[in-house]
Amino acid sequence: MLNIIICGAPGCGKGTQSDLIVKKYSLTHLSTGDLLRKEIAMKSDLGIIADSYISKGELVPDAMIIDILLKYVENQHDDSNGIILDGFPRTVAQAEALEVMLKQLDKEISVLVDLKVTEDELIDRLLIRGKTSGRSDDNMETIKKRLDVYHKLTEPVNDFYKSRNSYTPIDGMGTIDEIFGRISEVIDSKR
Ligand code: AP5
Ligand code: MG
Repeated sequence: MLNIIICGAPGCGKGTQSDLIVKKYSLTHLSTGDLLRKEIAMKSDLGIIADSYISKGELVPDAMIIDILLKYVENQHDDSNGIILDGFPRTVAQAEALEVMLKQLDKEISVLVDLKVTEDELIDRLLIRGKTSGRSDDNMETIKKRLDVYHKLTEPVNDFYKSRNSYTPIDGMGTIDEIFGRISEVIDSKR
């Protein structure tokens, strides 16, 4: 089994690279951001609550996200080679909850890939995407807030995985193919 966490600041390329990794290694892609946006599009109760956080660039409460993840994992019966978690865990509390959950399933994280991208490039990518994405959080004010929240609440998750020897920083600058090449090298070394 190959269980991967892909993380990094907003706009670093988590979703783009996950799509390529899923195809090459036959994994299941779980993006908590995508799951929440589906709920928002369906205008479900959960979606309405989630939107009030996402559009402000704030994190959705841990308990809500952990609940979504538990439900997803319980209903997931496929024959993929493992899972790629994109945008989760985003707080130390989420990382701790994930560890408990994996232990119960007798699974573990193979590697955490942290995509490193300069702040100027992150902002450029998100503003370009914002012209067509329709995402309520792809505007300058909310991007700044997302970056702030990332530094305060999500970066500390890296230390959690450093202490478990699964943390791998990767240069996230360059073309999509160049970055995918770097990630593939790391994944291949873990198989
Ligand atoms: P989430 O959906 O996870 O968004 P994010 O972390 O802000 O990151 P993005 O999806 O914007 O960027 P990405 O890293 O996937 O980059 P992408 O590949 O798209 O979360 C959104 C919100 O949901 C959060 O703020 C929070 O409110 C909530 N949420 C989600 N998970 C949560 C959790 N676990 N706990 C609590 N709340 C949670 O690329 C970005 C753009 O750049 C694209 O247009 C792409 O085409 C382009 N691009 C990609 N690579 C390159 C490249 N190499 N060169 C040039 N352009 C590139
Ligand atoms: Mg994404």
